[in-house]
Amino acid sequence: MKSYTLIAPAKINLHLEILGIRPDNYHELVMVMQTVDLADRVKIESLSTDDIILHCGHPQVPLDRTNLAYRAAELMQQEFPTAFREYGGVEITMHKQIPIAAGLAGGSGNAAAVLVGIDLLWELGLTQSDLQQLGATLGSDVPFCISGGTAIATGRGEVISPLPSLEGIHVVLGKYQSLEVSTPWAYAAYRREFEYEYALDPDGLAARSHRVHSGDLVRAIATQDAVKIGQRLYNDLEKVVLPAYPLVSQLRAEFQRHPHLGTMMSGSGPTVFGLASSQSQAENLYHQVRAAIPDPDLELFVTQFNDRGVRVV
Ligand code: C5P
Repeated sequence: MKSYTLIAPAKINLHLEILGIRPDNYHELVMVMQTVDLADRVKIESLSTDDIILHCGHPQVPLDRTNLAYRAAELMQQEFPTAFREYGGVEITMHKQIPIAAGLAGGSGNAAAVLVGIDLLWELGLTQSDLQQLGATLGSDVPFCISGGTAIATGRGEVISPLPSLEGIHVVLGKYQSLEVSTPWAYAAYRREFEYEYALDPDGLAARSHRVHSGDLVRAIATQDAVKIGQRLYNDLEKVVLPAYPLVSQLRAEFQRHPHLGTMMSGSGPTVFGLASSQSQAENLYHQVRAAIPDPDLELFVTQFNDRGVRVV
């Protein structure tokens, strides 16, 4: 039986700004997204039956349709019934490295890998844009996970405009293993507190989105200015997650006590990341945070920016 193995990288948000509410009750966002080397490995094989079978050694990863990777396979079966009849079901094996429910798009990346893998397995010849359109129906982060690199994401997060790729920026990620933040909760809490600041009309939304497109962070990315990038990190969701989760707030403060380029929470958290200008600065940061917080529940990773989304190995 034919099979493909794919690498599905984690993402961090260099900028996450909530602009308003949409008719579909999602938030209108403008984000700057970045993939890193920390990644899951997803193997896709054809089955001789019509089933979708998921395997994963991680105890917290569900193996049924509550898993986005399962729904990605189901979506491909619905969209391409002829290929499904010809090739049969799929067996998906996920090796998790990315912490789950972390704000690092691990689940979205796995779903993205399933779309790309089934496209190859069934020889569908879909374009990246076709795959991103399918991915957008599964979750807001899936289209970015397909293309990866450095990009601006607008709309719900599914409209992707690539930015010049960034090299040589290193990252330390910190997440308490037992701590999870619900993304719907974070957005709902933000709306309760800050809805009065939302842009109400299309012109207001476009103006705020434009400010990011032509702003300091995007300029710093264009000129590969790592120091400025570190100074311009931004995430609106910190305003609700940090007060509600003191451990995340303390972890962020600990990162900030040590020399590096800048610290921020990723997505809806609870992962905190610190950017570093070299591997040795990242390793120092890792050791300093580890020494200050010896709690075995705190997972720390050293990784770096990369310029790729899902890829086949
Ligand atoms: O798109 P996704 O399923 O990843 O979103 C998870 C949840 O996060 C949504 O159900 C919604 O509550 C919230 N969300 C939002 N606005 C967005 C993206 C996500 O309110 N643009």
